[in-house]
Amino acid sequence: EKGGFDHFMLKEIHEQPKAYRDTMLGRIDEKTHKVVFPNLNMTPEYIRSIRQIHIVACGTAYHAGLVGGSVIEQLIRVPVSFEVASEYRYRNPIITPDTLVIVVSQSGETADTLAGLREAQANGAHVLAITNVVGSSIARDANDVIATLAGPEIAVASTKAYTSQIIAFNLLGLYMADIRGTMEASEIAHVIAAMQSLPEQVESLLAQSESIKAYAEHISKHEHLFFIGRGLDYAVAMEGSLKLKEISYIHSEAYAAGELKHGTLALIEEGIPVIALATQDALLEKTVSNIKEVKARGAEVMAITYEEHVADLMRSVDQVFAIPKTLPLLMPALSVVPLQLLAYYASLALGHDVDKPRNLAKSVTVE
Ligand code: BG6
Repeated sequence: EKGGFDHFMLKEIHEQPKAYRDTMLGRIDEKTHKVVFPNLNMTPEYIRSIRQIHIVACGTAYHAGLVGGSVIEQLIRVPVSFEVASEYRYRNPIITPDTLVIVVSQSGETADTLAGLREAQANGAHVLAITNVVGSSIARDANDVIATLAGPEIAVASTKAYTSQIIAFNLLGLYMADIRGTMEASEIAHVIAAMQSLPEQVESLLAQSESIKAYAEHISKHEHLFFIGRGLDYAVAMEGSLKLKEISYIHSEAYAAGELKHGTLALIEEGIPVIALATQDALLEKTVSNIKEVKARGAEVMAITYEEHVADLMRSVDQVFAIPKTLPLLMPALSVVPLQLLAYYASLALGHDVDKPRNLAKSVTVE
C-alpha cells in the first residue's frame, strides 16, 4: 500500500508530480490557453463584483492559503486577508456580499474551518472551498468547490495536498484575472505554460533527495533553527518550519527575513542553522543582506535558490540547494519540496514515527 516507499509521507511527496498534473487536468483549455472551471456557480458578473477576499483555513491548508492568496492578490488586484479558522468567527469579521470567502481544507472535515464557512454564509458571503475530499462536509456546504486531485493523503503531515492547493489557487487566480481583465491572454498563456512544466521540475528535484537527506541528518543534531525568506519565500518558510516541527519535533521559527533585526536576531548564535529561501528575484538582494546579518552572528546558512543564483549565493552562505527555475509566483510549488524532504529525513534520523507524529491527528473534527 506504500507503493515500495518506507512511509506514506515519502510516497505522497513523490506523488506530487501526478497530483499537479491531475489538479490541472481538464482545467486548461489547450486551444485558448486559458483556465476553465465549467462547474463553478460563480458567474462572471459575480467575479467582477468581488471587492475583497478572505482566506480561511488551519495548519498547512492555511499556509497554502498564504501562498495562494498572495498570488490571487497580485493577479486580480483585490485585497486578500488571511484568517486562521479558529480565530475568524470570533473577531466579528467584516463580511459583505461582495466578499469572496475561500476555505481551504484537505479533509473537508476540519471543524474550525467548517465553522468559518458557516459564519461567512450567515453574513451573505459566497464561499468557495478548495478541498481534496469532494464528499466532505465542507464540500457539501460550500457554494462552490474546487477539488484538488491529489488522491488520498494518509500521512498526518500534509505534502501533496498543500502543493495541489497551491496549483488550485493559481488556476483560480488566472481564471478570475481573465474574467476581470487584469491580465492579457498572452500573460495567462505564459503562466499556464510554466505551470505545465512544474511536474517535471518536481521530478528533477526529487532525484536530488540524497543531498537533502545528508543535510537533514546534520540538522537532526540541532535543537533550534530558523527559516527565513521574503514575500512568497516567507510563506514557504512558514510551511517548512511547521513540517519540521510536526514530525521531527525540532524547534524552529520562520521569520520574514527583514524582520529578524527587529527582535529575534538575538537568538542567532554561533552554529545555529538558518535555512534561507531566496527564490524571489525582486527581493533577492534584500534577502542576501539579511543572510549576511545572520552570517555575521555565526549562523550556518543553507540557501535555497535557483541555478542562476547559486554561484552568487555561494559567496555568502555555507551551502546552496538549487531548484529549477520557474516564474516567481510559482516558485513555492518547487521550493517547498526540499523542505518536505528535510522534515521527513530529520524525523527518520531521530527515529520518530513519521506518518503518525505525537499529539496530531490527520483531521480534527472538534473546535
Ligand atoms: C490539522 C492537521 O489538525 O489540521 C494538519 O494535523 C492540517 O496537518 C490541519 O493541515 C488542517 O486540515 P485540513 O484537512 O482542514 O486541511
